[in-house]
Amino acid sequence: MQQIRQLVSDEFCSVNELILSQLHSNVGLVENIGHYLIDAGGKRLRPTLVLLAAGACNYQSNKHINLAVVIEFLHSATLLHDDVVDVSSLRRGRKTANAEWGNAPSVLVGDFIYSRAFQMLVDMADLRIMRLLSDTTNHIAEGEVLQLTKAGDASTSEAQNLEVIKHKTAVLFAAAAQGAALLAQTDSSTENSLYQYGLHLGIAFQLVDDLLDYTGDPEKTGKNIGDDLSEGKPTLPLIYAMANGTPAQAKLVKAAIENKDASALTQVIETVTACGALQYTRQQAQEHCRLAAEHASILPPSQYKEALLRLTKLAIERKS
Ligand code: IPE
Ligand code: IPE
Ligand code: MG
Ligand code: MG
Repeated sequence: MQQIRQLVSDEFCSVNELILSQLHSNVGLVENIGHYLIDAGGKRLRPTLVLLAAGACNYQSNKHINLAVVIEFLHSATLLHDDVVDVSSLRRGRKTANAEWGNAPSVLVGDFIYSRAFQMLVDMADLRIMRLLSDTTNHIAEGEVLQLTKAGDASTSEAQNLEVIKHKTAVLFAAAAQGAALLAQTDSSTENSLYQYGLHLGIAFQLVDDLLDYTGDPEKTGKNIGDDLSEGKPTLPLIYAMANGTPAQAKLVKAAIENKDASALTQVIETVTACGALQYTRQQAQEHCRLAAEHASILPPSQYKEALLRLTKLAIERKS
């Protein structure tokens, strides 16, 4: 990741500066909560994706800095809301904003960051980018609601789970990559390939996130394990275990989902490991990374293209 960052290091600094200046508000609590989340860092993967995709399209102006910040803001706002909905208490190695300040301030500051992103989009005055990101934000919201309707539902299929993942996570990766192509005014096949690259990378990224919710080290992920189980989320490791485990394994997982029972975490971890569910989920993530790389392969040769390809490997290997 360090090497990849180096390729866009000046632009990355500009992104971070713009993030800080755009967080400004006259209401103290807005700034406090905004800085609390943003200063904790995070991987800044989506803005990095914008910068790399812009480089791969040989973009020559500077609107990609604004686009990168808008996308990181949309991501940050969804995290503030998501941690309320998921009742999560740890994020980026710190207490979540909801654990520190409560649900109401987290939701409202999430709204502030969303609307700041849209103010910035209006300033960019590019109707195609505006359409892309308003559609994307709308899909993310749908994805989070769809996921809510599947909480505690052990009959959720693999295809339905994929729908949730595409909506809540992958479309923002896709928009990051496609948005850069729109700015660079590439031909439609480049634009489409970057969209597909981002979509498959995003799917793989979320599948790995769902693995890390059972296998991750909180010191590295900055998040607690077991959050998904306490919300009864039927993620791929659990769906696979119910379909392919022994009857006893399937019964255990089904009950844990339906009862949103985090006390079963140790047994569920044993089960998803033993029945091959973790391995299967990783294979699915690898397949989506392969597809992402296939779509990126049509880009003209450049170090940016190589970095985009390397990201597909990192998405699988990541521990944080
Ligand atoms: C977390 O995203 C939300 C998911 C889509 C899994 P990241 O893992 O990119 O979070 P940060 O920004 O690095 O903290
Ligand atoms: C990602 O899903 C949700 C968003 C798109 C914000 P998760 O709920 O799995 O993300 P984490 O694990 O809380 O980061
Ligand atoms: Mg969550
Ligand atoms: Mg998660």
